[in-house]
Amino acid sequence: MRTWLVTGGAGFIGSNFILQQRQAQTARIINLDKLTYAGNLQNLAALHQDPDYVFQRGDIGDRDLVARLLRTQQPEAIIHFAAESHVDRSIRSPETFIETNVVGTFRLLDEVRHYWEELPPAQKEGFRFLHISTDEVYGSLGSLDPAFTETTPYAPNSPYSASKAAADHLVRAYHETYGLPILITNCSNNYGPFQFPEKFIPLMILNARQGKRLPIYGDGLNIRDWLYVTDHCDAVRVVLERGRVGESYNIGGRCEKTNLEVVTQICALMDALCPTSPSVPHASLITHVPDRPGHDRRYAMDISKIEGELGWTPRESFDSGLAKTIRWYLDNPQWVEAVTSGAYRQWLQVQYGAAT
Ligand code: NAD
Ligand code: TYD
Repeated sequence: MRTWLVTGGAGFIGSNFILQQRQAQTARIINLDKLTYAGNLQNLAALHQDPDYVFQRGDIGDRDLVARLLRTQQPEAIIHFAAESHVDRSIRSPETFIETNVVGTFRLLDEVRHYWEELPPAQKEGFRFLHISTDEVYGSLGSLDPAFTETTPYAPNSPYSASKAAADHLVRAYHETYGLPILITNCSNNYGPFQFPEKFIPLMILNARQGKRLPIYGDGLNIRDWLYVTDHCDAVRVVLERGRVGESYNIGGRCEKTNLEVVTQICALMDALCPTSPSVPHASLITHVPDRPGHDRRYAMDISKIEGELGWTPRESFDSGLAKTIRWYLDNPQWVEAVTSGAYRQWLQVQYGAAT
């Protein structure tokens, strides 16, 4: 069986990807994760007896560890999810975003290049480095602008998106300069099980469940393109297996919604699922709070390249994906309890003050 090295596999998307791929038995998986506040091994509890899943705690920027792991495990592909991923945290503390997303990615990439250069020709040819990135590198759209394509110039507006853009450029440069067989995916906003509740959708679900206010930045009319996480994971596998080396692929849900539309839909589903809650109607909890600095107005992805070339298309509708997600958060109070530790509550206090 082939071996893949996944970085950041204890986070939201990485853990969904590993669970999906181990269920399909596509590859033996080594998961390199530092276990920051966003990494949670409980997400992967289902694999604790799986002999073809290996966890290694560590930093992608630790060259010695990465070099050792590559030589002992001999992966045929790297799927690089590890990152600091929350825009609001990047505004408050940008430095860790530069350390992990830029310097960490650079060191990982450089160690992978050395490993790849030593491989025998047939393995060298089949090797892939797949870098997971975001639509946010393209900046912000006006309401009438066409969606981002793979040739839209990069114009990142937050320390998070700037750090991801820098990483994308490095990955691309390693292909142009050294011939490393890379692929880049730029995906829109994901939602689904195991997402850390600092992000919009799980924060709204959990606050609604607890009768807390639902903090909407600014006028709530910012638009995001939402994709159910397992659709993203499918797209990553398709790009890994069939993508053209050196190319980037946009991934999205063709599902543009304002934040107010999303929170209103969450509230309606919560009313239906928890009809006896004293917070019904949950929409009464919606509270406008000061806007995020540099808040991108609209993201939208043109996904015709991945659809036309690789035959991938999003399958989950927003209605069914959101209902599944809410049910998952309501059905997994132990997971929620474990991640909403003291450090999490401290973040809410710093970010929202008395608003939550
Ligand atoms: P996440 O914050 O939930 O998880 C990140 C994981 O990376 C955690 O397990 C964390 O412990 C690990 N990590 C952080 N720094 C590390 C380091 N230095 N070394 C090793 N591991 C480290 O993030 P996510 O939402 O799962 O996002 C995964 C990737 O997908 C990121 O690269 C992100 O930019 C990208 N992405 C996310 C979204 C989204 O909506 N969440 C959309 C598009 C792209
Ligand atoms: P988020 O989940 O942080 O993703 P991103 O900023 O990467 O798109 O936020 C999604 C949208 O929701 C974004 O427009 C900011 C907004 N938002 C709020 O209005 N309130 C909140 O408490 C949070 C976390 C986000």
